[in-house]
Amino acid sequence: PLAQIGVTGLAVMGRNLARNLARHGYAVAVHNRSSARTHALVAECGDEGTFIPADTLADFVASLSRPRAVIVMVQAGAATDAVIDELVPLLDADDVVVDCGNAHYADTRRREQRLRTHGLHFVGCGVSGGEEGALHGPSIMPGGSVESYARLGPILSAIAARVDGEPCVTHAGPDGAGHFVKMVHNGIEYADMQLIAEAYELLREGLWASPRQIAEIFRRWNTGPLESFLIEITADVLEHMDTATGRPFVDIVADVAEQKGTGRWTVQSALDLGVPVTGIAEATFARALSGSVVARRAAAETFAHAGGNFALTVPDTEAFVEDVRRALYASKIVAYAQGFDQIAAGSEEHGWKIDRGAVAGIWRGGCIIRARFLDRIRAAYAVDPALPTMLVDPYFAGAVTDGVASWRRIVAEAAQAGVPVPAFASSLAYYDGLRRDRLPAALVQGMRDHFGAHTYRRVDRPGSFHTRWSGDRSEHPA
Ligand code: 6PG
Repeated sequence: PLAQIGVTGLAVMGRNLARNLARHGYAVAVHNRSSARTHALVAECGDEGTFIPADTLADFVASLSRPRAVIVMVQAGAATDAVIDELVPLLDADDVVVDCGNAHYADTRRREQRLRTHGLHFVGCGVSGGEEGALHGPSIMPGGSVESYARLGPILSAIAARVDGEPCVTHAGPDGAGHFVKMVHNGIEYADMQLIAEAYELLREGLWASPRQIAEIFRRWNTGPLESFLIEITADVLEHMDTATGRPFVDIVADVAEQKGTGRWTVQSALDLGVPVTGIAEATFARALSGSVVARRAAAETFAHAGGNFALTVPDTEAFVEDVRRALYASKIVAYAQGFDQIAAGSEEHGWKIDRGAVAGIWRGGCIIRARFLDRIRAAYAVDPALPTMLVDPYFAGAVTDGVASWRRIVAEAAQAGVPVPAFASSLAYYDGLRRDRLPAALVQGMRDHFGAHTYRRVDRPGSFHTRWSGDRSEHPA
């Protein structure tokens, strides 16, 4: 018998995806560059379903029913290109190649174009949920041709996470759309994690509380609107004690946040698209700052006695905790609003027609940013698919308005005490920037016109104008 689908690349993600497929009744061809992994999978998990192992890529391809569907789960970048190069001559027209790695969407666009010239379908497919998700149900963001989705949709639906019976998979759009959506997912993941980290820092500084006590606060928050996977694991991490030292785990981990690059890609893309994703950018830069170890050490010495290390004064513990919670929720809403704006802008730029409501829907389960409030985002875009910003949806507008006094207090108190809260502060500044009816951008335009004759528009009549700054300062149509 032939396999219905194949997986090549059997490191933990590929292995778990293959097992998930087999557990759902699909006969799965499995292949890995070094066969040991292939045989280990069959030996250890063979009783979970039907695996058809192959030692060579040619045997692997030959073991698939046609038209073939091949999932590639190798490292993003050169390794993906190498596997594709090897696969293409072995495949026939109409076969589908699915890249489930964290590829850059521009690479996916390039690969899709190339495979199209061979009559092949290339699907750049975002998969979120880590190892556990891959095995028990990830959130899946495929991009590619409509035909390929018609073929893959039922399979992906079978293995995806489910929320209220709905599978967490949607056809994001053509070529790079799926990987673009996954990239923004990761950017939002960075922002959400940074916001949670800032909330933790404030609680720790303000309450002199132990990580375990703070874990309790997060557990409580996880029963309200903040309910999410990241809040849940925050509590797990905070209450964990290091066995070697008996100290809180969070105190023995080096405070240098690393990244594999998807957050950086999100910010790079946002700069190109001109979308202010300030929360994601601050989160990405906060990781970079944490890694600036030499500069941090030098600055810590130089400014040791420079003031600004005042304790947070917290007269009312409960009120402070509630302020932090509200500031966190409002900042989180801003971060997600910015991410969804970037999806809209990317979609517009590439003609992808991404349905933001559907994206919010499939992020409710399986993925790292799964959260209760994604239901609200989905609902907001269902009511108005062209929402100019998520912030003006009545629910989110209400939530932000409710939280704004707390948000201001927290950012102000943190600034006074010298506790850095870049994501909280920049989200608040973004909110204030958006809602103000006039911005000092008018002065920036004036300066641009002064030094470079870059022209400006007026509020009272159409057209572009230039003032002769070095002459008689008369104004002329540009
Ligand atoms: C997911 C995760 C996953 C990966 C992150 C880690 O959705 O399952 O986002 O893709 O664990 O990309 O990212 P960093 O190493 O950049 O923090």
